[in-house]
Amino acid sequence: MKKDKIAIIGLGYVGLPLARLFATKFPVVGFDINIDRISELMSGVDSTLEVDNKTLQSVLVDKNCDSNGLFCTNELDEIKDCNYYIITVPTPVDKNNRPILTPLIKASETVGSVLKKGDIVIYESTVYPGATEEDCVPVLEKVSGLEFNKDFYVGYSPERINPGDKEHTVEKILKVTSGSTPEVGEKVNELYKSVITAGTHLAPTIKVAEASKVIENSQRDINIAFVNELAKIFNLMDINTHDVLEAASTKWNFLPFKPGLVGGHCIGVDPYYLAQKSQEFGYNPEIILSGRRMNDSMGEYISSEVIKLMIKKDIRIKDANILILGITFKENCPDVRNTKVVDVISALSEFGVKVKVHDPWADEEEVMNEYGLSSLRALPKDKFDAIILTVAHNEFIGLDFSILKKEKSVIYDVKNILSNDTQDKCL
Ligand SMILES: NC(=O)c1ccc[n+]([C@@H]2O[C@H](COP(=O)([O-])OP(=O)(O)OC[C@H]3O[C@@H](n4cnc5c(N)ncnc54)[C@H](O)[C@@H]3O)[C@@H](O)[C@H]2O)c1
Repeated sequence: MKKDKIAIIGLGYVGLPLARLFATKFPVVGFDINIDRISELMSGVDSTLEVDNKTLQSVLVDKNCDSNGLFCTNELDEIKDCNYYIITVPTPVDKNNRPILTPLIKASETVGSVLKKGDIVIYESTVYPGATEEDCVPVLEKVSGLEFNKDFYVGYSPERINPGDKEHTVEKILKVTSGSTPEVGEKVNELYKSVITAGTHLAPTIKVAEASKVIENSQRDINIAFVNELAKIFNLMDINTHDVLEAASTKWNFLPFKPGLVGGHCIGVDPYYLAQKSQEFGYNPEIILSGRRMNDSMGEYISSEVIKLMIKKDIRIKDANILILGITFKENCPDVRNTKVVDVISALSEFGVKVKVHDPWADEEEVMNEYGLSSLRALPKDKFDAIILTVAHNEFIGLDFSILKKEKSVIYDVKNILSNDTQDKCL
């Protein structure tokens, strides 16, 4: 019997670690439309830093074959003889926060064009309940000319990895699985079970599995929105929010969320997928959307807090030099997608201040292309009227702020990682 062969479609933060993992037990072909990404991966380098180069190189094979290992390509022909297709392409929102399914549809067209009888297509991208069967399956059917649940089958297994987290790597996170029939659910579950050491949970239907993922991120978003609201309230009362949270966290069932900016392509985006589907069913999701509004308001709030502190210290606002420490969407990770630090910068710019950005993790070119901002990897040599620590990169913890601040200056610590002596205020 021929060994299972897996194609992974989309080799980003989710697809590459998964492809690497499966390649330890199966022949895997990684497919991506981005030729630069293919070139870097085939040269043994992962610029997302999710898979270290040595680990990547240990599974790479230089040509498509039927033995274990990973071959990466942008050639459609190379995925023709696979029998599992796992789709891990982006699911962003547009400027009005409506889901963009284009990458999913395009990837489904790609897979549909090589689909054969007996194949199983598994979606991992985060979506609303129903997207796999109602939006993607019709594309697979149309392009392949095959019949769903007779000639080919689908599964859904949401990804739960946390970029930059070297502890909870893909194999160590329990994985939810599902299939379009009970038998296919079992098959999909067995496939993942063979590599995920943390185990699997077979959900009864694809919609349940889809819903489970989108609510994980929506729940985090709402919890953070609640503590962001607390931060605004306690700030008015002149109470330190972190002290309150520390005290409350001594109760066993208090959830230890921290206030902050909610960026990235998951927590700040996925709730809109659920909201959209909910609205299609005629229900307006008040809690989900008010959580989103609260979290999206934090950039402007932080900027106005800093300006108020500067005014209190008699620091001239117009042309003041402000240093932003961190532009990535989270700590110790190079991902700048949908970073909300740009909201802080754009709100500050309205006051006529001059902003410099330093981030040892962010790719300078990517920040320029994405946001039209220059971000420096090297620490600037200037002195600043205000410094805002926006991202808790390890590099910032022991930073000598005395070399960066003017005699009269403000240090605002969004993440509260600096000592009380160093910071003027935290969120
Ligand atoms: N990054 C995370 O932490 C994370 C965690 C859990 C779930 N997710 C979800 O996983 C999905 C993928 O996210 P990601 O962060 O890996 O995205 P990503 O942008 O890092 O990677 C996606 C890759 O897909 C490629 N691609 C786009 N369209 C394609 C197509 N039609 N055919 C082939 N390749 C294509 C892109 O070139 C890119 O390399 C999203 O739905 C996301 O919400 C992400």
